[in-house]
Amino acid sequence: MQTIIEKFRSLHESEKKISVVTCYDYSFARILSKTNIDAILVGDSLGMVIQGHKDTIPVTLDDIIYHAKAVKRGAPNLPIIVDMPFLSYQVGFKEGILNACKLFRETGADAIKLEGADQQTLSQVERLTKIGIPVMGHVGLTPQSYQVLGGYKIQKNSTEIIKSAIALHEKGAFAIVLEMTLEEVGKNLANNRSGIITIGIGAGRYTSGQVLVLHDLLGMNEEFHPKFLKKYAQLEKIILEAVNLYNEEVKNQSFPSKENTFFPET
Ligand code: KIV
Repeated sequence: MQTIIEKFRSLHESEKKISVVTCYDYSFARILSKTNIDAILVGDSLGMVIQGHKDTIPVTLDDIIYHAKAVKRGAPNLPIIVDMPFLSYQVGFKEGILNACKLFRETGADAIKLEGADQQTLSQVERLTKIGIPVMGHVGLTPQSYQVLGGYKIQKNSTEIIKSAIALHEKGAFAIVLEMTLEEVGKNLANNRSGIITIGIGAGRYTSGQVLVLHDLLGMNEEFHPKFLKKYAQLEKIILEAVNLYNEEVKNQSFPSKENTFFPET
């Protein structure tokens, strides 16, 4: 079987865009397993989307392990990348390595992802790659540090972001998420650093691939409409209609009908 690194490289080299979707559970992963997407990310965005927190900060390593195992059962045929959550790698070099190994081993994921490119993170990327764990980087808007980045805002320090992406690549990161950057970042990396695989979210048209949260692209939250998002369905509306119809039919006693009922001869 092709490894995630081989898969991403071969897509990149044949100039095909890479599609990644963030997913958190068995039921949606089962459906994704029947699509042609290239990989699933079990992202710490589950803190907001699944747990209802205001940010990703409360998400724990055990939360990610729980969700990644469910996703793996739903989509055993797709490569899975798992997020290293807040505090699992920032405090110490060794602790980060141990947590990444635990996450990789317990979930059976194909790669781990971590945010930022400070000296310690770069050393961790290098060490994990040497150990044998494929690492994806994440620069631009790094949601675990949104409070010091001025909120969930476009990050305009393009030169610094490009430098960080190059540093992560040189330490062994097989791909790098660019989140909420100016398009010039992806364009520069594509033109000048053809070996770097970039996966964009709000990073424009020149990245090697794209990632979106499944709930977002399906339109599960009508109140959420950032500029980078395209909604490919309006599921909130469909769910509301279906549940309201069910409610109505229970109240007017048209559900259950005879077809949904057991009789001795059934
Ligand atoms: O947590 C997540 O889903 C992510 C992607 C949006 C890149 O990090």
